[in-house]
Amino acid sequence: MAGFSSVKGEVITFDDVVIVPGKSPVEPKDVELSSRVTKSIWVSIPLVSSPMDTVTEWRMALILARLGAVGVIHRNMSIEEQVGQVERVKSSPPSPWFEVAKSTPGEPVSQLLFRMAEAGVGAAVIFEGSAYRGVYVAAGPRSEFWLRKAEAVAALTTAIKPIPTIDEEGRPRVGAAVSPFDVERAKALEKAGVDFLVTDVAHLHNVNALRALRELSKQVSVDIVAGNLGTKEAVLDVVSVVEDVGGLRVGIASGSICTTGEVTGASMPTLTAVINAYEALKELGAENRIPIIADGGVRNAGDAAKAIIAGASSVMVGRMLAGTEESPGQLVSVGGRLYKQYRGMASRGAIEKRHAGDRYGGRSKLIEEGVEGLVPYRGSAAEVLLEFAAGLQAALGYAGASTIKEAWSARLARITAAGLREIKPHDVVLG
Ligand code: XMP
Repeated sequence: MAGFSSVKGEVITFDDVVIVPGKSPVEPKDVELSSRVTKSIWVSIPLVSSPMDTVTEWRMALILARLGAVGVIHRNMSIEEQVGQVERVKSSPPSPWFEVAKSTPGEPVSQLLFRMAEAGVGAAVIFEGSAYRGVYVAAGPRSEFWLRKAEAVAALTTAIKPIPTIDEEGRPRVGAAVSPFDVERAKALEKAGVDFLVTDVAHLHNVNALRALRELSKQVSVDIVAGNLGTKEAVLDVVSVVEDVGGLRVGIASGSICTTGEVTGASMPTLTAVINAYEALKELGAENRIPIIADGGVRNAGDAAKAIIAGASSVMVGRMLAGTEESPGQLVSVGGRLYKQYRGMASRGAIEKRHAGDRYGGRSKLIEEGVEGLVPYRGSAAEVLLEFAAGLQAALGYAGASTIKEAWSARLARITAAGLREIKPHDVVLG
């Protein structure tokens, strides 16, 4: 029992807490969501897509950058392919309303959709005669469905007015995942213009991985986000070992497709991982310098707001975006309903693919720590993102914060099991 008696505190997760309502200085729609993903990269919506092979390739990264968030291209592909994905984002126009896809008066929707597919864009501005209607259409053959969805997105876009995430030359920003051992890949991505790198290690707090990361950080000059981390000690070690770390990716085993906690018994729920990381940064006086990305298990804007109140600057999501048009997952129809494939990067299918294409994908473990599944198809990532932003503004409004930084001073409080039941719809028959 020696190990148990040395356990300090307890771990808590999103459903264990509520946001304590605070005096709000502004209306929710005026809450400012701009934040940093790394030391030098700002976004207007603090959301980062996960580097997973059913979530982020160039189309996802591009739509996110165009609307004010940012994507991280996964590494389950050859160096050349990943470089090509980064170049595709960097060479695309940053505007969400791409000129090529602007409809002309009287143009049939089918023709517009064809041009959009050709140009690889998921959004267009619709004109009625010469009047701007502000309607959004995503690429795909389901035109009626899209046009209906379009109206909702247009309304949200008008309300939120996203500012694209662009570099000094006006190009969309994009991140890419690397193994800390893969210097060759990191250098190739930097040469291709990647804006930041994110290490993709389930447990970075490992002497070999940390040593490799220190070497890697000397070889490239773009920001490197280090992860995944769960404890205060891990953050203190990373900050002392890696000179000038660009950001921290925290949370272990909370992902929706993750079985690490079940298979190995090890886990640090994302909310607690953020609390731990923020405590470490505060101790170092670095909480305003090194941003924390909360990664895993973020289901909605409410969870994101809780992570931000705990000290995160942004959240990383997989499942939230996996069901969208722009994810690379396979679209499948089951019983007349549409779904997209979503799988953990430590699931059998993802491991097999990595094993085939990446010499650093060699297995350091002999078990799978993720599952493969389906998530409901949700239409464009634009809609998900803009709804997320509106929800986050509302949540921070309740918290009494008008900026992300102010949210760090807002409060979370524990909720009982009875309280949790009560805050969900209850005592009614849901229609
Ligand atoms: P969500 O909940 O947004 O979580 O779907 C995405 C995050 O989950 C992590 N991830 C994994 N964790 N086994 C794991 O233990 C896996 O196979 C796996 N794949 C992804 C990762 O941090 C991601 O951002």
